Amino acid sequence: MNFQLTEEHLSVQQAAHDFAQNELLPGVIERDTEQKFPSEQVKKMGELGFMGMMVDPKYNGGGMDTISYVLAMEEISKIDASASVCMSVNNSLVCWGLEKFGTEEQKEKYLKPLASGQIIGAFCLSEPEAGSDATSQRTTAEDKGDHYLLNGTKNWITNGNSASVYIVIAQTDAAKRHKGINALIVEKGMSGFVVGKKEDKMGIRGSDTHSLMFTDVKVPKANRIGEDGFGFTFAMTTLNGGRIGIAAQALGIASGAYEFALKYSKERKAFGKHLSEHQAIQFKLAEMATKIDAARLLVWQAAYLKDQGKDFVKAAAQAKLFASQIAQEVTTEAVQIHGGYGYVKEFHVERLMRDAKITQIYEGTTEIQKLVISRELLR
Ligand code: CAA
Repeated sequence: MNFQLTEEHLSVQQAAHDFAQNELLPGVIERDTEQKFPSEQVKKMGELGFMGMMVDPKYNGGGMDTISYVLAMEEISKIDASASVCMSVNNSLVCWGLEKFGTEEQKEKYLKPLASGQIIGAFCLSEPEAGSDATSQRTTAEDKGDHYLLNGTKNWITNGNSASVYIVIAQTDAAKRHKGINALIVEKGMSGFVVGKKEDKMGIRGSDTHSLMFTDVKVPKANRIGEDGFGFTFAMTTLNGGRIGIAAQALGIASGAYEFALKYSKERKAFGKHLSEHQAIQFKLAEMATKIDAARLLVWQAAYLKDQGKDFVKAAAQAKLFASQIAQEVTTEAVQIHGGYGYVKEFHVERLMRDAKITQIYEGTTEIQKLVISRELLR
């Protein structure tokens, strides 16, 4: 693996850095407090090409590699993990899956506006009784010849209200278990589709997380992704890539908190000298920086393997497992370095500490990552 970033990588990283500092930082505390979705900022992210980074330019994407994507994810997550989860779901779970497995008609109709950021997508797998246990889907997609009749409820859906297009995983033939599941493209506004309540969350409070209800929604057969029964494999394959995005998000949350703590330690004085001159603080900074660099290597490794067309399932789960773990540790230490100031909103690190927790839960909990890794080891 080449650790040297290309000119193109560096310019993507710089663009994401500038966008985060100039456009996301102002107002991020208010958006968190008021649970306000960053709609204007996400629109600009689309204009800058951050919403469909890896999609082929012929479908309005950026044609970039996964390394570029994780570099941008890290920079944006340093400041606003609510904006970056919207970006991650759109890029990894919606655009990537549609480009890889969708029909030409689906790509023309849905991928093009999604990749350009004109509209936002959502990925709907979790249910009130099927989170980690994803094969136990209760939402049904009954085969009615030329369409499916969709019934059920989805929970904790990122971009739940802001999305226009939803990829919904549902059971068509329960007797076939995971081989009877389909992935359907559902449009907002289809009769019988209702966006439910918004969740009042601990972190990523600017992102809009909703439950969704489907009652006799008629979804044309043309909106099924892949062959009949491909839905579970579609979801698992898409999530493998999605985990690289969330690992990069966790990395960004950690490195953002570290940067705030480093700056603060050079400004704040205690016992007659800057905090950074105290060995107790130096040791903390050294540990935080080492954990972040180790996480970054895992994230880059997973992205690199994916770009090379190699098997990246284990690497992606390892990156997510480790980066989400160190995000807890590093953000907690960043609060500690700030002392009392760290416990109030103004200094950003308390928000990053709250945001860090979700990276151990969504797109597979810590325990699911260990399951995926050990399966690959024992295969
Ligand atoms: N990649 C590809 N295929 C996979 C896979 C993977 N990582 N894991 C399982 N599969 C395939 C298996 O090969 C098997 O297919 P075949 O029968 O054709 O071989 C099929 O899926 C079923 O596998 P298992 O029998 O092993 O299924 P299981 O029920 O024992 O376990 C699981 C599966 C790994 C636990 C899976 O349910 C899982 O990953 N759960 C976590 C779900 C998850 O990540 N949810 C996140 C929600 S989305 C989200 O969070 C988005 C957001 O808002 C940010």
